[in-house]
This record gives sequence, structure tokens and C-alpha cells, in this order.
Amino acid sequence: GPALTFSGDPFRDGLDRTMVHEPDAIVAMQDGHITHFGPAARIAPLLPPGTEIRDFGKDALISAGFVDTHVHFPQTPMIASFGTQLLDWLERYTFPTELKFADRTYTRQVTRRFLQESLRNGITTSCVYCTVHAHSADILFEEAEALGLRLAAGKVLMDCNAPEALRDTAQSAYDDSLALIRKWHGRGRLLYAITPRFACTSSREQLAVAGALWREHPDCLMQTHIAETEAEVAWIKELFPERSSYLDVYDHYGLCRKRAVFGHGIWLGDDELQRLHEADAAIAHCPTSNFFLGSGMFDITRAIRADRPVRVGLGTDIGAGTSFSILQTLNEAYKAAQLNRHPLSAAHAYYLATRGSAAAMHLEDKVGSIAPGMEADLVVLDMRSTPLIAFRMDEARDFAEQLFIQMILGDDRAVQATYVAGRPAYAR
Ligand code: GUN
Ligand code: FE
Repeated sequence: GPALTFSGDPFRDGLDRTMVHEPDAIVAMQDGHITHFGPAARIAPLLPPGTEIRDFGKDALISAGFVDTHVHFPQTPMIASFGTQLLDWLERYTFPTELKFADRTYTRQVTRRFLQESLRNGITTSCVYCTVHAHSADILFEEAEALGLRLAAGKVLMDCNAPEALRDTAQSAYDDSLALIRKWHGRGRLLYAITPRFACTSSREQLAVAGALWREHPDCLMQTHIAETEAEVAWIKELFPERSSYLDVYDHYGLCRKRAVFGHGIWLGDDELQRLHEADAAIAHCPTSNFFLGSGMFDITRAIRADRPVRVGLGTDIGAGTSFSILQTLNEAYKAAQLNRHPLSAAHAYYLATRGSAAAMHLEDKVGSIAPGMEADLVVLDMRSTPLIAFRMDEARDFAEQLFIQMILGDDRAVQATYVAGRPAYAR
């Protein structure tokens, strides 16, 4: 059936040079990798005799699996918590929920629900926050390994401005993270992400320890939050009066470089975007969360400005985010872009959800696109998953319109099948 992927960055090099749309494609896979991709008529004769073929038909769309660059698995049980903005939301809902992860049985139950829900939505790679408990990362990695997922995660570092029972220390943050790195980083498809929650909940000493650990293990990722709300930015000014900006706090402790993924970044200044560009660090755009908490509108066009483009990925940010559906997350990304007076085309949006997000994690040579040699993580979308979508698709004039209709109206019902490392991991 039809397939869509990207060979490069359409924001930088244009859609014509980067978008690959095959009206009738074959994606061939072996031993977890893609071996062939192209028009069915050209690829079919090249396949080894006895190759098993699965035809999804002309109303399907084969894409690289979706990549979620910012998500909190322990917040799965608290999606849709009413009535507060970020800092109150953390106190009222998040910390009480994360306290429950002292219990390993509960942690495993939530982990399984989280991973199943991700696969049901075509998400095959995520960059995941755990809780402060080291076992929360162990359990997530165990379950992800059993599914063969490429996934990055880390235990949260948090040693102040949080309930006693959710605090670690600078020393235990270092020791626990180091043990997790040694056990999991680079094991199969798993990657460790050093995870200071944000500078409001880490002491100077703990941020310094995170920086030291990352220097010692530079091919790990580092993830944290930045400039999500105005109140948080004001609090950072009080907490770190000696630093010139929010990003400068992280930069000072060695936390701004390649393989850093900063969540949100709505309220970053031009100097901070310039520094992110120089450092080759990334921003995770989390539109459903930004609307839900009333945090603001991230301006992606400003972030990727051609003279100093910053890597931008897409994040569900569950549980401040309101949907595991990447299609629904793109719907909200479109609306954020509209409010900034810069429409986001569907093709650019699908890039953001796949190769763009892989690039934000510096994984674009492994996942996020369909090409020989890439890891075989795929999602098959049903382009007619509801009566309304089917009715509307009949009016679509071209492929660009079909894609747009899918991203505005589609959700988990549009995910027909998900493949992880060449194996079926979910089927509707
Ligand atoms: N900032 C610090 N912690 C969090 C979190 O758990 N969710 C969101 N959305 N922002 C945060
Ligand atoms: Fe978050």
C-alpha cells in the first residue's frame, strides 16, 4: 500500500527534496532491519523466495513508527487532572501520584499499561521520565526490553522543593543513575537519559553531579524541563540569581549540549535559542500539555529559524499532555502554530512526529524513517478509520489534504498495526 517517509529535514531542505511518498510501496524487513523500500513493482522481484507478504491495501498509509520525545510514564494514571497550572499541578496531582511508585507491583502495572497504550498509538520510540525511585527505571527498561523497543529513559533526579519521600540527594542521584547506566545504557536498543526533573527541584550540587555524570558518559541523553511557564521562569530567577537565564543554569552545570532534550521551551529568549542551536541541543514541543496546563504557545517557526535552527521533536508529555495519540498531538501542534500565525503543513507535521523527533534524540540514523538499513519500526495508519473521516476523505483533492484530514480528525482508531524491530507488536 501507500507509504510516507522523509529522507531529510523538510523545514531546512524543502518538501520536494525530502518527502518520499510511494503510492504503492513494499517495505521489506529482516532481522529487525529494513532491507528494501520502494515501489512494489520494483521491490517484489528482489525479495527472497518464500518472503511472507502482508498487504494493507490502498486505504492504509505505512509510516516509520512515531517517536515521542517527552513523556512521563508514571503520570499515565493521572491524565486529565482538573483545574491547575504547572506548579500547583505538580503539588496537587503529580507528586502524590509519583509517591505510589515506591510500590514495585504498581510500578509494573502502570509500565505495562503505558507501553501498551504507546503501541496502540503507533509510538515505537520514546524518551521517558520515570520517578525518583531507581526501580521505576529498572522496571520500565525490563518491560521495554521484552518488547524489543528502542527507548531512552532515566530515573528522575530531585533533591529539593518536593515531598521528602520523593527526594533523592546529590550523592544518591549520582550512584543510582550510574548503576542504571552500567546496567541498561546500550543494552540492546535501550539508552539511558540522565533526568534532572527541572532546575526548580535540583540543588546546585545535584545539577553539578548530573553534569559530571554526563561528562563521564557522554553518549547518554540528558532530559529536563525548561521555560514551560512564566511562574516557573520567575522562580528560577529567584533560585539562581547568579545565572543570566534559565538555560544558563543548565549550561553552567554542563547540561547544554548534543543529546540534551529540553521539554517545552515556550518562554525561551532569543539568546537561549541561539545557544541551543550552537550546542546542538533539542526542544521537545508538547502542544497538548501546553494547552492543558495553560502554559502558552510554543512557536516552532521561531525555534527553527533558518539562521540558527534548533532541533525540535514532538512530545505527548503524558500526564500534563492529554493524549497518547500522536495524530491528536499534531492536531494541537497545528493549532499552536495557527495562534502564532504560522500554519504547519501536514507533511511537515508528520516529519516532526517521525524523523524530526528521532533527530531531536540524535537517533535519525537508526529510527524515524523508512530506508534500507534503518531499524524496522513501523506504524500502519488506516486513512478511513471513522465514518466521518471516510466521508471527508472522499472530498480530499490530493495526498496533502488526506494527510491533513488524518492528523486533525484521526486518533488511536487510525492505528491499524504497529511493528517493532520487524515484528508485529500491535494490531487493531
Ligand atoms: N516540570 C517539572 N516537572 C514536570 C512534569 O512532571 N510535567 C510537566 N509538564 N512539567 C514539569
Ligand atoms: Fe514533562
